[in-house]
Order: sequence, then structure tokens, then C-alpha cells
Amino acid sequence: MKLLVVLLASVALCAGGAIPQIPGDNSHYVEGESRYIWMPDGEGKPHLVDLQAPPEEEILRTRNGANNQYWLYTRHNPTTPQILINGDANSVQSSNFQANRPTAVIAHGWNSDGNSEVNTLITSALLAVDDCNVIVLDWRSAASGLYTTSVLLVPNVGQHLGNFLQWLINTTGSSWTQIHLIGHSLGAHIMGNAGRHVWSQPWRITGLDPAGPQWGGNSNALNRFSGVHVESIHTDGGLLGIMDPISDADFYPNGGRNPQPGCFISTCSHSRAYELFASSVRTNHFVGRLCENFSQAENSQCTGSGLNMGNNILTKRGYVVIVTMSCIFKSRKSLH
Ligand SMILES: *[C@@H]1O[C@H](CO)[C@@H](O)[C@H](O)[C@H]1NC(C)=O
Ligand SMILES: *[C@@H]1O[C@H](CO)[C@@H](O)[C@H](O)[C@H]1NC(C)=O
Repeated sequence: MKLLVVLLASVALCAGGAIPQIPGDNSHYVEGESRYIWMPDGEGKPHLVDLQAPPEEEILRTRNGANNQYWLYTRHNPTTPQILINGDANSVQSSNFQANRPTAVIAHGWNSDGNSEVNTLITSALLAVDDCNVIVLDWRSAASGLYTTSVLLVPNVGQHLGNFLQWLINTTGSSWTQIHLIGHSLGAHIMGNAGRHVWSQPWRITGLDPAGPQWGGNSNALNRFSGVHVESIHTDGGLLGIMDPISDADFYPNGGRNPQPGCFISTCSHSRAYELFASSVRTNHFVGRLCENFSQAENSQCTGSGLNMGNNILTKRGYVVIVTMSCIFKSRKSLH
């Protein structure tokens, strides 16, 4: 009898139900099988997520994209946001929003908010090189429940963002040709939903390690029909990030997987996508190489023509390509 219990226990372990012990370390994780995964919050602190946890009915009923907040940053207010309110033209007219300038919009991931590092790093990089509008989407209300709950709220949060941007464009005379949507993790899928929800298409969407768990084959995921040019940067593929090419151009720096250089654990590699992107906005110095097939991308063996990764150039275009990059830096300190 004792032997049977031990046997059953090891079967459960093999089926991926074991609780992983080292915070942030997802080396146990098997996509589509494992029940638990460590996910970072906005400060990078790992939280253990149960991917089978039933979504919270109460939160699904009471929180959605109507709770979105839109924070505007410009060179006149680079660190203190002005709040834009959907439908309140005065909130825009009395702000520093410049309709004739490009607008970048940033969406954070699960368990984060408008103050999380992804926003501050990218906002400061954008304003350093461009006299543009930066709108940070703070969707903490829908992002702060269980991961499984937040996944279900992503489409609605994205649709509200799309409506808001359409209203902003109508109100100010701006244009979708001026819009670049940038999202990290779940935020990447929010941008996919925002882009597909509106009449026209945002000129660019950049997915920064688009979230993986529960997004493989999910029709609500970011895809290349979400904007005119959709690009993704994969840095923790198969763990916190999705490994599949889902964009017009998919970049796999250092093979697209954990560990990225200077990282030991998955949560670190997952954040690397926005660190690389912020750096690319400042210097536009990461050149990917076109791959002939996916296994070349995974093994950093691509030698085709060059395509710059990231940056904030609105007219950037690509074809359906998979691009790899070799390691050109050692630690995140060297990035900015
Ligand atoms: C924006 O303008 C278009 C065309 O005038 C209109 O059909 C649409 O309802 C407007 N949308 C919003 C959100 O204001
Ligand atoms: C990928 O392309 C390379 C270069 O043409 C080739 O050597 C390799 O066998 C291909 N791999 C697969 C899995 O098709």
C-alpha cells in the first residue's frame, strides 16, 4: 500500500502538478501541462500562479476596461502624468497632448500598474529621442486578480483602450498613422485586442515577450492582423512568454528563451524584452538576421538580411519573418 502511494505521488509530479520551490525559477514548467508557474509583478517579485485556479466571478463581474486609466507624459511633463478621460474633451485640451506628434501607448502585464518599471523605462527612452505623446495604460484594476481572471479580462480592457484611442483621434484630429501600441506580457495581448477592435489599424504594434500561459492558440492573442506592422520580441519563450511566431516580424534574441544573458531565471528573461526595447528606442542598434526556418531562430543561426529590432519608427515595415539576434551585451546595466 505504501508503495502504491509513493508511485501515485511520483505520477502526480510527472503530470506537472508539483509546486515549484525556487521563486522565479520555471525550469520545471512544461507548456500546456504544468499547473504552476512563477510570474513577476511590476517590481519583478515572483508570485506562484496556479493556472487551474477558477477565475474570480466577483472580479469578472465588477472590473473591466471601464476602469482603465490613461496617463499622458510628454517632454513638458516627463515624470508626472496628466490624466486623460475618455469622453472628456477638456481633459485633453487642458493637457500637453500634441495632436500633430506621434503617440506611443504602453500596456503593462499582470499584477503591475502604470508606475511599473516597464512604463518608466520605455517612457523615458521615448521622450529622450522623440518629442511625442506617451500614454501609459494603467489597467491595475483588472490586472490585480488571479492570473486566470486577468486573462479573461484582457479582451475587454483592449476594446476599451481601442475606443478611447478612437475617441482621442476624433477629438484631436490625430490619426492611426501616428499610433504605436507597445505591450508587455498580457499587455501585448491587450494591444492586439485594441488594434483589432477599431475601424482602422494602428500603424505599429510591438509585443514584448507576449504572455505564453493560456495564450497558445487563443484567438484573443496578439496576431499580425492587429495592426499595420506587428512585431514581437521573445525573450522567455515557452515559459512566461509565447514562443510561436505571431507577428509580421518575430525577434528571438539569444534564441528567444530563458536564460537570457545575465539572467538565471525565467522572470528575469521575461523582463528582458522591455529592457531591450527601451534600449532600441534610444539607439536603434539591435540588428536581427532573417532566418530560413524556426530551428535556426531557436539556435541563433540565422544569417539572412538584417532587420532592426524594436525602435520607435512608425513607418517600419517587415514581411512575415522570423529574426534572430546574437548576444551583444552582458548585463542589463550596459543597456541604458
Ligand atoms: C469617431 O468618428 C467616426 C467618424 O466620424 C465615428 O463613426 C465614430 O463613432 C467616432 N468614434 C468615437 C469613439 O468617437
Ligand atoms: C533550416 O535551414 C537550414 C539552412 O538552410 C538547414 O541547414 C536546416 O536543416 C533547416 N532545418 C530544418 C529543421 O528545416
